[in-house]
Amino acid sequence: MSKKILVLPGDGIGPEIVAQAKKVLNVLQADGLDVTLDEAPLGGAAYDQYGSPYPEFTQKLAREADAILLGAVGGPQYDQLDRPLRPERGLLAIRKDLNLFANLRPAILYPELANASTLKPEVVSGLDILIVRELTGDIYFGQPRGIRINEHGEREGFNTMVYAESEIRRIAHVAFQAAQKRNKKLCSVDKANVLEATEFWKEIVIDVAKEYPDVTLSHMYVDNAAMQLVRNPKQFDVVVTGNIFGDILSDQASMLTGSIGMLPSASLDQNNKGLYEPSHGSAPDIAGKNVANPLATILSLAMMLRYSFNDEAAAQRVENAVKAVLAKGLRTADIYEAGTEKVSCSAMGDAVVAAL
Ligand code: NAD
Ligand code: IPM
Ligand code: MN
Repeated sequence: MSKKILVLPGDGIGPEIVAQAKKVLNVLQADGLDVTLDEAPLGGAAYDQYGSPYPEFTQKLAREADAILLGAVGGPQYDQLDRPLRPERGLLAIRKDLNLFANLRPAILYPELANASTLKPEVVSGLDILIVRELTGDIYFGQPRGIRINEHGEREGFNTMVYAESEIRRIAHVAFQAAQKRNKKLCSVDKANVLEATEFWKEIVIDVAKEYPDVTLSHMYVDNAAMQLVRNPKQFDVVVTGNIFGDILSDQASMLTGSIGMLPSASLDQNNKGLYEPSHGSAPDIAGKNVANPLATILSLAMMLRYSFNDEAAAQRVENAVKAVLAKGLRTADIYEAGTEKVSCSAMGDAVVAAL
């Protein structure tokens, strides 16, 4: 039976970059990939149409889908809405609803982009790290949360950082197993010197490690990890961390690859059903201009083929097409450098299609 892909273009540059990934998908379909495509709104687009950032219409299709491709959500026109109505809440809701607790964010430097990074080429060349970010827990979802009047009559904002043992165990297993398939090094990032929630995280990760004697486990405080990521990023193989630290460190890691427009991601449940999206946002500053880099989205599609459809050959075909266009010297504005050819978002999509 053919598999169902739900496409969620979202907001800002979302529709532009998703359109490029769809072109790639259409080629694969023509070559025999047995999938059907549906489309639904998420985020601001869904609020505009249905008054909710994750409406029932989208929820139903999302639950039925085998895999989901998302552009990005959010935009300044929605920033004054009540919190539950904001685009970002739609994204958090779909992650929670589908139990997509394992967020894989691979930061790989394509050799042609060694000079696009703001870091020295020798620091980043050959970079290949995987950030495993827990995605459905932590301070993002912890209760209580809100803005209240405190005992001194002053307004205060508050959130709760909390991790249950089962949440830590399952993400640790994902990370150890990912490390087993790579260079067998796992670094768990925490702030155990200050925060009990992450002291507990560390304790559980150490316990899970007993089941993976072939993987070398290390621990690092998040502030040091942020520093080490730019000092010597190649010391890392797999990094596992909680939701908020993973959010921040993965944006940082994206710059090691030249641009956040290069960093794909997969958000998986226990059975590898996944939502695939670039790690970046809706980039309102460049939306509608056809200049965004669609490669993170196209590479997210490759991750879908690999993780949800178990089609390693198709995944590599897409990744090789991306490598080929980079080798040809085509660059969107974010990765442009002298001596290369600047192309638009849609031209980059066309070039990947041609390279397929
Ligand atoms: P952002 O990632 O959208 O943009 C940060 C910078 O990177 C901007 O200068 C932008 O132009 C650039 N950029 C991002 N993607 C690019 C691409 N593909 N090609 C070229 N340049 C790119 O982050 P932000 O500005 O902090 O957030 C903008 C909106 O996006 C907010 O509403 C935020 O909540 C939302 N957001 C959504 C997601 C998501 O949907 N997964 C992720 C992050 C932020
Ligand atoms: C991401 C984004 C989201 C997050 C926001 C938009 C809710 O920054 O996917 O990295 O913080 O998880
Ligand atoms: Mn983020």
